[in-house]
Amino acid sequence: MSLTYRVTVTPGGEDFELHEGERILTAARRAGVWLPFECGWGSCGTCKVTLVEGEVLSLFDGAPAVHPRDAKRGRILACQSTARSDLTLKPVWTDVSPRAHLGTGDYTAELTAVDELGPDIRRFHFQLDRTVTYREGQYAVLELEPQLRRCYSMAAASGDSQVQFIAKRYGGGQGSEALFSLPLHAVVPIELPYGDMWLRHDDRPILLIAGGTGISAILALAHRLAVVGDPRPVHAFYGAGSEPELVCRQQLTDLIGGLPDGRLRTATAHPCADTSILTGFVTDALMAHPEGLETAHIYLAGPPPMVDAVLSMLHTRKVSLDNIHYDRFG
Ligand SMILES: Cc1cc2nc3c(=O)[nH]c(=O)nc-3n(C[C@H](O)[C@H](O)[C@H](O)COP(=O)(O)OP(=O)(O)OC[C@H]3O[C@@H](n4cnc5c(N)ncnc54)[C@H](O)[C@@H]3O)c2cc1C
Ligand code: FES
Repeated sequence: MSLTYRVTVTPGGEDFELHEGERILTAARRAGVWLPFECGWGSCGTCKVTLVEGEVLSLFDGAPAVHPRDAKRGRILACQSTARSDLTLKPVWTDVSPRAHLGTGDYTAELTAVDELGPDIRRFHFQLDRTVTYREGQYAVLELEPQLRRCYSMAAASGDSQVQFIAKRYGGGQGSEALFSLPLHAVVPIELPYGDMWLRHDDRPILLIAGGTGISAILALAHRLAVVGDPRPVHAFYGAGSEPELVCRQQLTDLIGGLPDGRLRTATAHPCADTSILTGFVTDALMAHPEGLETAHIYLAGPPPMVDAVLSMLHTRKVSLDNIHYDRFG
């Protein structure tokens, strides 16, 4: 029989039960007790709590949000820790209240179809156990094997009980190998939605920037813009290593081309025969963007080196961080 522990949150005194091995944040959500959170996987630090009493086990020691001083201060991540005894906790960020874009829930997902898109790049279709609502640009955390959790951005518009992800297989990567090895009809736990990258509704122009599998989040955003026929100027930039890796390029071209004022620029690091594709990085395509960066809402997704390069370029162009909404895929 599995053990259960009691977790008490100070100073309010709310309490909830946690099953052995369960994450503190998941158990709180199940019980309807609010604990602050944002990313759900260990990168933002919003879920930090002070361990007033009890013993915990960290489930992700190298989590980016863990600071060397946290151990001295008795601070832990509620999204990446489980209990080893009854606990008393005190949230660090008490000013963070439930947000409209984070009605995060726990679902099960059945793998119903897989499409080959490019070299080691696939689209995965999952059927959830019930309808879900998310904002395009957000992501899910899939538990691919017990305690093997990875984030994947939804690649289509929200609206029913199905979700799609576009993922790359990284040689030796535990999570992507597990995802690529799932047999059809496998059922895995999934939490969604997470993330702060969703369309802001004002009259600023929009820049969408995808690197590699960042196309997943950017496609979902383009779908949303297409559904409403958004009249704002939309400039999309999509870069990859080679032409076959520019997966879903036609889909993105159609979505952006169907907008009242949409333009798309693609780039590949390796030269290719198609002269409409710039040879270079997505930053090179952006450099050629003459104006408007400073006033636009910028949505950016992709692997860490690409996201960092774009952020540094935007910094030199004095673009305010408030206008940049991004997911760094790692
Ligand atoms: C917000 C977000 C959205 C993403 N969207 C996509 C997408 O749409 N398509 C895509 O192909 N990839 C996406 N990724 C990357 C994906 O989550 C994996 O990092 C990638 O597949 C490599 O994982 P791996 O296990 O194969 O490689 P490994 O090298 O084995 O994994 C290391 C990476 O796994 C992550 N990680 C480690 N432990 C945990 C944990 N407990 N919980 C969560 N993450 C952990 C860390 O980012 C780390 O860099 C996204 C990442 C993030 C953060
Ligand atoms: S919710 Fe972001 S680190 Fe836990």
